[in-house]
Amino acid sequence: MNSIKFNTYPTPVEFYGEYYNNNIYIKRDDLTEPTLGGNKVRKLELFLAEAREKKVDYIVTYGSAQSNHCRLTVTMARKLGFKVLLILAKSDSVHYNGNFLIYDLYNTEIVWTETDKVPESIKDTLSSLLDKGHNPYFIQGGGHGDLGTHAYKLAFDEIMEQEKELELSFNKIFHASGTGTTQAGLVSGNILYNSNKEVIGISVARNNARGKEVIAESIISYLKNIHEFNYHITNELTFIDKYVGNGYAHIYPEIINTIKNVARNSSVLLDPVYTGKAYYGMLDYIKTNSISGENILFIHTGGIPLLFNYASEFKEE
Ligand SMILES: Cc1ncc(COP(=O)(O)O)c(C=O)c1O
Repeated sequence: MNSIKFNTYPTPVEFYGEYYNNNIYIKRDDLTEPTLGGNKVRKLELFLAEAREKKVDYIVTYGSAQSNHCRLTVTMARKLGFKVLLILAKSDSVHYNGNFLIYDLYNTEIVWTETDKVPESIKDTLSSLLDKGHNPYFIQGGGHGDLGTHAYKLAFDEIMEQEKELELSFNKIFHASGTGTTQAGLVSGNILYNSNKEVIGISVARNNARGKEVIAESIISYLKNIHEFNYHITNELTFIDKYVGNGYAHIYPEIINTIKNVARNSSVLLDPVYTGKAYYGMLDYIKTNSISGENILFIHTGGIPLLFNYASEFKEE
């Protein structure tokens, strides 16, 4: 499978500190390029390679106003010479945040859609581009799909190698889980290596039932299409919706405090929408489940530009 690499891998694994007698390590996927990176970079390296093979001229994708996937699609696709069109969901909370600055800098075409009309908007946009003689390539929101899943199976390969270098084994891997592809890739790696890690996705939006359903579908599809074997999910997937709050991008005080503590203890910045929520969830999960004596890996999936959208919430009187 081809990839257009924007980075050299592996991303570093750093020891962060001890917590309730566990060793916490952080895998720094936030250090990927371009434009302040994150987990979407690994996925887009694969999608854009396929787009180039197909000789398309337009990259079209969909997302929310805070989408890291949309921001990175714009900057990576433009670097490779593609035109980009974003289909964005209208919402009362949309304001001119950092993503829009990037879209303007790159003269990005935007089609606004009502949240309940997304499939029609995608269909109409693609057929209008075809009518105008273009050859568009559509990437599902969040980089969902077998290629996106494969990106995090490759990250799992890296983790297996890094364990050898560090001479340890991770018992648990925590990360922020949204569209579920990152988790599907990590769980697929776990299945393919027959390793006994627990991959724990902390939901940033979806409820437990929906989240698990999509992750299970992604794992089954990926293992069938890319590795040619039929897999039946028997083990429970660990997808925790307890820390979502009132929904996607709902920020509450524990998240702000967690981000402050992590920043003050290290050079690591988290964001409130994804990694801050996930990190807080991880700490609470460790404490409430009395986990002790384990090596725990937190995958920092990026999202740092979103932190600046919430600057006023961090202000201390
Ligand atoms: C910073 C960040 N972390 C985690 C995720 C979740 O990744 P996935 O959609 O693969 O579950 C996203 C997705 O939007 C993200 O932007």
